[in-house]
Amino acid sequence: MIYSDGEVLLTKKIGLDPNSIGSDAIARAIEQRMLECRITNINSYLEIIQTYPQEWDALIDALIIPETWFFRERESFKYLQQYVASEWLTNHKNSVLRVLSVPCSTGEEPYSIAIALLEAGLNPARFHIDAIDISKKCLLTAQRAIYNQYSFRGNPLSFQERYFQRHETGYYLHEQVKSTVHFMHGNLAQPDFLMGMPPYNIIFCRNLLIYFDITAKERTIRILERLLNPDGLLFVGHAEASSLLNSRFVSIRHSLTFAYRKSALDHLAIKTKEHKNTHQNHRVIHSKRPIISHKLKPNTTPKASTTNLLENAKNLADQGHLPAAIELCNDYIKQNKISVEAYVLLGQLQQAMGKNEDSLQSFQKAIYLQPTHQEALTHLALLKENQGDVVSANILWQRIQRLQHRP
Ligand SMILES: C[S@@+](CC[C@H](N)C(=O)[O-])C[C@H]1O[C@@H](n2cnc3c(N)ncnc32)[C@H](O)[C@@H]1O
Repeated sequence: MIYSDGEVLLTKKIGLDPNSIGSDAIARAIEQRMLECRITNINSYLEIIQTYPQEWDALIDALIIPETWFFRERESFKYLQQYVASEWLTNHKNSVLRVLSVPCSTGEEPYSIAIALLEAGLNPARFHIDAIDISKKCLLTAQRAIYNQYSFRGNPLSFQERYFQRHETGYYLHEQVKSTVHFMHGNLAQPDFLMGMPPYNIIFCRNLLIYFDITAKERTIRILERLLNPDGLLFVGHAEASSLLNSRFVSIRHSLTFAYRKSALDHLAIKTKEHKNTHQNHRVIHSKRPIISHKLKPNTTPKASTTNLLENAKNLADQGHLPAAIELCNDYIKQNKISVEAYVLLGQLQQAMGKNEDSLQSFQKAIYLQPTHQEALTHLALLKENQGDVVSANILWQRIQRLQHRP
């Protein structure tokens, strides 16, 4: 059953694009909550969630995907350390580095930021981290700061020994790290999010925009512009790079790192916003940079024995082992010839290794299998631009824009 009114309410209040998790998942969450509340009528339930904040929170918890882990997309944390050591410390002799992590889920991301900054030699008094999420349940877990092995994925894990105490009940984060993060409840889909707060030097906003509808995405990007210092850095998730294409953010062009600065030509961009070429200025800036992203949403269910191949390829890619990741990807494709996601990942890996012709072919295969695949189309458009094929690139950009503004 599709609960259209429920979906409309969720989009309005938390920015959720029902297509991102699917109407079935939304229906399951609503039905689960109605069962718990012993309510059989959907309209009564919709009234209840708008009257009782506790039930609204329970529905949010039934819906959200709190998936996160320490040092997810490790390269971003390395880049943060590099930025702080080579740029921020030089230009800001006495100030405090202000960092925002939203959404922070169960805390692994803001604590990874804190550990990265401590490892970069920053004294805890020199940085302040605000961490925000819509789920109060996630925030409680974050504040406890006790984790199990599931929160530690990938290698190396040397930081685990240095910053956690192992007990039978889990890994306890040291107080020194815990005390640097300030958790708050908040909803990034609200236009007045953190209104009046001083801006941040660093913002991590990863793996939320992928769940937002186009309106919420655009509004959030404007909020992030407001909250970021002129010389600050914004980090997004690997699957979210395309969301910033028409924005005033410019990619820092660093392999496997999805970090952005505010455009130096900001004022110019505003003036020319209505001009039809505005978005192209930004695309050209993006175009020279290899983009690695691998949002996996298989359109066919791979055989169980081969699923791990693709997961392992992703993990290797995250750790920067590109040739090995390509090999696994090719092995996977041999057994799953119509996997769009495998071709997209392969294309991204080949692009990151400078094998532009190979990557072009991989993205073309992905688009052949799924003509509406926005990530593959975006990568292909960037590659075409890089090759100076402006005509083909423009056709692709128009196609992407039409898809993004589809009702
Ligand atoms: C996949 S986690 C991302 C965590 C972390 N940033 C990362 O990349 O590992 C998504 C989180 O977004 C939160 N969330 C969903 N909608 C939100 C909103 N409108 N405002 C703030 N947080 C939201 C969820 O509660 C969930 O914890």
